[in-house]
Amino acid sequence: MLVHLPQVLGPAELDQLRGLLDHAGDAWIDGRATAGHQGAAVKFNQQIDEHAEVARSCQSIVASALERNPLFISAALPNSLYPPMFNRYGVGMGFGAHVDGGVRLHPHHGTKFRTDLSATLFLSDPATYDGGDLQIEDTYGTHSAKLPAGDMVLYPSTSLHQVTPVTRGVRLACFTWVQSLVADDGERTLLFQLDNAVQRLNESGADETARRTLTGLYHNLLRKWTQI
Ligand code: NI
Repeated sequence: MLVHLPQVLGPAELDQLRGLLDHAGDAWIDGRATAGHQGAAVKFNQQIDEHAEVARSCQSIVASALERNPLFISAALPNSLYPPMFNRYGVGMGFGAHVDGGVRLHPHHGTKFRTDLSATLFLSDPATYDGGDLQIEDTYGTHSAKLPAGDMVLYPSTSLHQVTPVTRGVRLACFTWVQSLVADDGERTLLFQLDNAVQRLNESGADETARRTLTGLYHNLLRKWTQI
């Protein structure tokens, strides 16, 4: 399931983040530094060194915005978030078709981290660059995402995806992974749909007994499918 999260960052947070990235200097390194064998052959971009001081400041802006985003919580059911990373594609840069590595080492703790969901947070106004579309393949075909600055797309890490070459301007973005409480995308999607339906019923003041039953059903399925 692909989920579009509008306005994860507000204008003030975007300004703060872009200011930090614009002045990051030599913390910008070749994106292949963190790519696996498959990714390195097709990855042409720059990214912020994940151990640089500036990375920590940028990561905390994004992580705290996600922690207070109810749509993100409902859709991703996060167990843990990989420290967000930041990349930049100038003219001629892109990232060919690949599947993200299934397990990564957490850069701060060294523990293993299973990538269930991939997330791209767009940081550049789409009018300022051409190309740079995020194309994601799922069972229903190819979806293209080029979202307003501050918006995020969340998609299963099992998906084949690519960033088409930038032909004008600069595409600045943030990306991260989520290890979800519910590893299976199909199960997580059912929970997301059920949660949405219960919230709508709550807002409409529908029959209380039925709502209580559905809320109980949600939690009992969550308990059944959670892996901690
Ligand atoms: Ni990727």
